[in-house]
Amino acid sequence: MQLKDKTAIITGGAAGIGKGLVRNFVKEGANVLFVDINEDAGLELEKELGAAAKFLKTDITAVGMEERILTEALENFGGELHILVNNAQASKPKLLLDVEQADLDLSFNTGLWATWKLMRASYTHLAKTKGTIINFASDVGLEGVPNHGACAMNKEAIRGLTRTAAKEWGHAGIRINVICPGTAAEDYKWWRENHVDEAKELEDIAPIVVFLASDASQYMTGQTIMADGGSIMLR
Ligand SMILES: NC(=O)c1ccc[n+]([C@@H]2O[C@H](COP(=O)([O-])OP(=O)(O)OC[C@H]3O[C@@H](n4cnc5c(N)ncnc54)[C@H](O)[C@@H]3O)[C@@H](O)[C@H]2O)c1
Repeated sequence: MQLKDKTAIITGGAAGIGKGLVRNFVKEGANVLFVDINEDAGLELEKELGAAAKFLKTDITAVGMEERILTEALENFGGELHILVNNAQASKPKLLLDVEQADLDLSFNTGLWATWKLMRASYTHLAKTKGTIINFASDVGLEGVPNHGACAMNKEAIRGLTRTAAKEWGHAGIRINVICPGTAAEDYKWWRENHVDEAKELEDIAPIVVFLASDASQYMTGQTIMADGGSIMLR
């Protein structure tokens, strides 16, 4: 078990990639406080996973959400925090010239600002445990994809924040990396279609995040890790 006895916070854990993360973290021995606005899906996952997973219905754009989330994680799971995963994100696709302030607010409030507030609130706890943070970026920021300008601006800001924190907080023993999920390259899609049993939906991302959360990646910080079946190859 790669995350035995670790306590993790995962945002946006009720659905999508986050749901796969919560399941995999529990499977690897972690206790997980997961946060989402989707109450039905959150409670269902909590029921499925038992005592190691605790769901907290919270909007990560709400004032003071970071203290509430930290308190809930520490009170439920032994007073220590080892891993913070900033996975939740909402955004509305629009062409740049149609983007309004409300669209930017949606992207930045659920992305950059929530990520930053949770990072800042977790700092002292992660410094005590020599813990780690995993933030989420996107191919829309790396590549510049039409219709996704608001999300792209926000996701690239998260990468800048991650690099700075990796340098400033390294002395405290905190590692911070970015994972960048995406649609797989054509060759990898072909492989998946022809190896259905081996390729499990949504489980592609989770083992990579588990690795980043585990001590096995202790010599990695400030990095952007592509989890996209070879679609984008960073240089
Ligand atoms: N799926 C992809 O192909 C892809 C590609 C690039 C980047 N990403 C990134 O990966 C992460 C997960 O993506 P996904 O596809 O699983 O997203 P998703 O939309 O399926 O799930 C996001 C989760 O966050 C929750 N959420 C949204 N707003 C919230 C709020 N205000 N407070 C609390 N929870 C909130 C949603 O309810 C949902 O459960 C995101 O950061 C996304 O930008 C995904």
